[in-house]
Amino acid sequence: MTIKPVTTAVFPVGGMGTRFLPATKAVPKEMLPVVDRPLLQYAVDEALAAGIERMIFITARGKHAIEDYFDVASELVANLTAKGKTAELAVLADTQLRPGQITCVRQQEPLGLGHAVWCARHLIGGDAFAVLLADELLWQPEAPCLRQMHDAYRRLGGNIIAVLEVPDDHTNRYGIVSPGATDGLVTEVKGLVEKPPLGQAPSRLAAVGRYILQPEVMDILAAGKRGAGGEIQLTDAMAELIGVQPFNALTFTGTRFDCGDKAGHITANIALALERDDIGPAVREWLHAQRF
Ligand code: G1P
Repeated sequence: MTIKPVTTAVFPVGGMGTRFLPATKAVPKEMLPVVDRPLLQYAVDEALAAGIERMIFITARGKHAIEDYFDVASELVANLTAKGKTAELAVLADTQLRPGQITCVRQQEPLGLGHAVWCARHLIGGDAFAVLLADELLWQPEAPCLRQMHDAYRRLGGNIIAVLEVPDDHTNRYGIVSPGATDGLVTEVKGLVEKPPLGQAPSRLAAVGRYILQPEVMDILAAGKRGAGGEIQLTDAMAELIGVQPFNALTFTGTRFDCGDKAGHITANIALALERDDIGPAVREWLHAQRF
């Protein structure tokens, strides 16, 4: 059986971003920049690099900035053109998606990640799809995470999630895998549990916000079962697919920045700034002068 490539990705971007208040009173957390690109742009770039053609944003009230960002800024373009600012125009062109490539769906109530994904069910139809959580910046420009997952998917089919080993005392923050056999970077998923209490996690393998899922997960989400935190959890719905469909985890080998966390976001800014030719030297010089 040939496995059809995945061409649609869901980006749940409706979260309230309470950890970044007061900034997120007016700016969606997905629009917070790492150096000069919003977090969501990194996730969209990763999806494009994996061959994704259709992006579905699950938005919420107060998230207009996301739609505006991916629109053509005609006045700005006219202004920059008139001034001959070709470098700035190239930056804009580099982030411009084609007409119709983005669809936005409103999540009317914040009922959880599983609910957000379920809001895309009519657009997903009967095909496998990807999910990317933009506050997880998975940095590996030569072999982006979703592309590696997509390569594995073409071999294995079924469902694939990206995982990383986290410290024991962080396992209560994530969806945690109960691991089966391992083959290189691929581990069979025997079970999944969302935010287990400390000391009760089946492993240290945590889901880090990248998923390739079969459409049947939508039927499970439709039941609207509440899980950890009283929310409709994607992890719980995925757990019901284990044993019914192939389910594997791919260990991410690049650098992960948890940009939903202030320290993670600052670290991402420093790390990516240091990689840049334009600002890297100045940032490095300042860091050296601090003698940490
Ligand atoms: C979500 C998922 C969780 C996953 C995490 C990755 O949790 O529910 O399984 O491990 O993202 O960042 P959240 O951080 O939204 O609470």
